[in-house]
Amino acid sequence: MFPEHRPRRLRGTAALRRLVSETTLRPRQLILPLFVAEGADQPRPIASMPGVVQHTRDSLRKAAVDAVRAGVGGLMLFGVPEERDATGSGAVAEDGVLNVALRDLRAELGDDTVLMADTCLDEFTDHGHCGVLDSSGAVDNDATLEVYAEMAVAQAEAGAHLLGPSGMMDGQVGVIRRALDEAGYTGTGILAYSAKYASAFYGPFREAVDSQLKGDRKSYQQDPGNAREALREIELDLAEGADAIMVKPALAYLDVLRAAAELSPVPVAAYNISGEYAMVEAAAANGWLDRERTILEVLTSIRRAGADMILTYWATEAAAWLD
Ligand code: PBG
Repeated sequence: MFPEHRPRRLRGTAALRRLVSETTLRPRQLILPLFVAEGADQPRPIASMPGVVQHTRDSLRKAAVDAVRAGVGGLMLFGVPEERDATGSGAVAEDGVLNVALRDLRAELGDDTVLMADTCLDEFTDHGHCGVLDSSGAVDNDATLEVYAEMAVAQAEAGAHLLGPSGMMDGQVGVIRRALDEAGYTGTGILAYSAKYASAFYGPFREAVDSQLKGDRKSYQQDPGNAREALREIELDLAEGADAIMVKPALAYLDVLRAAAELSPVPVAAYNISGEYAMVEAAAANGWLDRERTILEVLTSIRRAGADMILTYWATEAAAWLD
């Protein structure tokens, strides 16, 4: 008899396929990134991310409640300030947009969801870099760490459960851990953006936060060609006290994600970023892809590659489909 082996047998009915399915995708594994704009009286659409907006304080609260009702596992907040300066002082200020929004959501949702904050200066600096600059205009690693420490304490005070340092400064996890502990926030965790690449796929995000960046982030984010380096970054973050780690972007880096998942003793996140969102939305809007099937395939593939959790702008909608 030929063929001797028939893998198709287990694909014959929906029930068989369900039974042998290897990868789960559940709402609780999804994290919704949200943008909140200081002084906005209307939600502002982001042209390159159809369906995503810069929220007002009120619309943010509503979007957060909707996400939690849909079963989404967590929220990651980004602030868009009205004023920016060289040191990103709005990131540290108690009345800075991100800290105000964290307070709002913690008051609204308590511990019903996991509230996370982007711990990075790029949204708050007038030059758009993730840190402060030295006199030559280069990003000053150690001076930036001092600001991150203050920012982290402000975010913990404002109610974040997990902080997401995304600036790729050397030592950022260790400095933040120490600052949190010294301020008494021993229970506030760190989701470290450990392997973050200098990616063209961040393009739409720059619009989402009105980024002032000219140039690029190649002196601190990783070269897309390097995988070994990602493992070193992860090991350093673990040694410095990361409670969970992240690989970012997701789709073009599934090999890095797989390697990270194999070595990590802590949960692994992947960020399905703005450019990945924009590509699918644009193709679907043209009728070139089946939107829902594509989105679920993207998210399932990121899970299959090893992510325990996925940051995705589709979180609320996908959670509703999965329910
Ligand atoms: C930095 C940060 C960025 C993103 C998340 N955190 C932008 C960057 O590094 O340039 C990108 C997320 C996305 O593209 O969806 N604060």
